[in-house]
Amino acid sequence: MAYEIAPDLNPNIPPNTHVFPLSEPGTVLTPRFDKFYSIHKATSWDLRDIPWHQIDQSRLTDDDVNGVLAAMDIESLNPVYVQTLLWMNRQDHEESAFTILWGEQELHHYLGLRMYALASGRVNPQDLDVRLESRRAGQWGKKERVLTPPRARTRTMMQEQVTGQFYQNFGANTHEPVLKRLLKFIEIQEFHHSGWSLEGAIILKNTDPHAIEEIEDELLNFEMPGPSFMEDYEVQGEALRKVANPGIKDFLQALGKVERLIGKVHLAKLITHPAYRKKLSDEWGMDLSKITNPFGRLSFSGS
Ligand SMILES: [Fe+2]
Ligand SMILES: [Fe+2]
Repeated sequence: MAYEIAPDLNPNIPPNTHVFPLSEPGTVLTPRFDKFYSIHKATSWDLRDIPWHQIDQSRLTDDDVNGVLAAMDIESLNPVYVQTLLWMNRQDHEESAFTILWGEQELHHYLGLRMYALASGRVNPQDLDVRLESRRAGQWGKKERVLTPPRARTRTMMQEQVTGQFYQNFGANTHEPVLKRLLKFIEIQEFHHSGWSLEGAIILKNTDPHAIEEIEDELLNFEMPGPSFMEDYEVQGEALRKVANPGIKDFLQALGKVERLIGKVHLAKLITHPAYRKKLSDEWGMDLSKITNPFGRLSFSGS
């Protein structure tokens, strides 16, 4: 597919809207970013932290390997995500600094999964190269480039949350200990990324009276990134579903995060919206009628 050059500056982001006062010496950029940075450092890991040679073949299934490869595909597009997000956020010093740290960790997700696939001995290195080449040719960001900040924060929050839950489930379901360890490292970082975007969305909601409408609309039309650039997403999506086996529990966990952003009243409005119910049923196989008391059970929050 043809790759498009980014059009000129995102009209939704006026220049110089995010100028921060000078921080105390020793604070990285802003107090909020400084806190994120500390946790970023504390949760960072290295490829050398994984005992690749200890992979237990007797506990590794073909489904595990297919799940690793499908997740690796999505993570492998990292440079394309980063260039788009840096371009979008270039006037927002805090968000662009986040994007650089985020990109470094997401790169490790790709590299870790790629290394696991190779170390497992279940994948031919040449086949892996061909696979990655086709993924890197994929396009991403056409819709994202024109998102307003409240929409962009909301979408990122949800994508990172769902991704964190994917790794959480995959890690719980696999019986192979080295894979479990790798997936735990990734899961923790995905939830941390989601938390940053949740905070950002809450700040915008509290300062811009129109933000809530955009946030709700974004939640209503939420989508994950994979289908937009993977032509065989039906196959890869199935590989992801097999290892994560998502259910109502996961849906409620994600809604716990949504509740922290928009509150119970707006959440009730969202999950009773007919278009949202249809979307959940069509795209996620979720039937809300199966939850006998959704409002009562929504009180436990996600990560
Ligand atoms: Fe990731
Ligand atoms: Fe992520």
